Amino acid sequence: MYFPEYRARRLRRNENIRRMVRETHLRVDDLIYPMFSAFGKGIKKEIPSMPGIYQQSIENIVAEAREVYELGIPAVILFGIPECKDAMGQDAYSETGIIQETIRAIKAEVPELTVITDVCMCEYTDHGHCGVIKDGDVDNDETLKLLAAEALSHARAGADIVAPSDMMDGRVAAIREILDANGFKNLPVMSYAVKYASAYYGPFRDAAESTPQFGDRRSYQMDPANRVEALREAELDVQECADFLMVKPALAYLDILRDLKERFNLPLVAYNVSGEYSMIKAAAAKGWIDGERVMMETLLGMKRAGADLIITYHAKEAARVLKK
Ligand code: PBG
Ligand code: ZN
Repeated sequence: MYFPEYRARRLRRNENIRRMVRETHLRVDDLIYPMFSAFGKGIKKEIPSMPGIYQQSIENIVAEAREVYELGIPAVILFGIPECKDAMGQDAYSETGIIQETIRAIKAEVPELTVITDVCMCEYTDHGHCGVIKDGDVDNDETLKLLAAEALSHARAGADIVAPSDMMDGRVAAIREILDANGFKNLPVMSYAVKYASAYYGPFRDAAESTPQFGDRRSYQMDPANRVEALREAELDVQECADFLMVKPALAYLDILRDLKERFNLPLVAYNVSGEYSMIKAAAAKGWIDGERVMMETLLGMKRAGADLIITYHAKEAARVLKK
């Protein structure tokens, strides 16, 4: 099959033919929308580096959750900004914590919307690390107890899926064990299995007020140079009975998405993180790129790489484009 008998352009001649041979599709069902729930009332504060994304108090979160549901997006993932932070991040596993109250409020008003919760300590600790500090570093095994308590309290408040993002060893097993022991055998764990120590999280840390007060997260998040280690991390989480695997960030790690898709038989999630969102928004605001088209191409690229689901701040915009 060679030119001039074969001509690849025959299958690109018009939109109908292109539709017929299109291999990858982005659907509204693929999207998960992140939201930042802040303590207080009447709060709706735009994050300067993330246009269109807000820290909001619960009544505004509920209103946006309804909008998300009406757009056909199946799920949200919640992050909390508590009233008080302390060394042990107590609000994270308190029955009346910011996330627990938010879950109950959403479930009361928009029960059909799937509520995923981020399980981590960094939004709740005064030092901003993802666990308990001992001898200047995050103590793995002590942190597991808090993460398990946090996941259980989310489940009790009505969360549909819990998503640990801390990168402690053994956290999926610890969470599975406490959920099973407390009547939540059917509640899935979406593991941030492969999470890199990335500069792309910068805008998120403004949004969640979770910048570490000393050091960085390199003793628990992965080195961006590593690929084989990503497979090892994913394998551990599969053994610990994770129900979903996630790769984060997405854009600079499309090869990792492809690797995991080929090797593991679990639904695969890409986290299109804050910095990836901000870059598109900033370039579009300057008129340097067509923001809508770059957004759709980026999300499609993540699906083509192997993602089944995408957590993205673009979810509402993308859902509107898909409706057209
Ligand atoms: C908390 C957490 C982070 C993100 C999701 N959960 C930040 C971090 O690890 O510093 C990043 C999300 C984003 O950048 O959009 N562990
Ligand atoms: Zn964290």
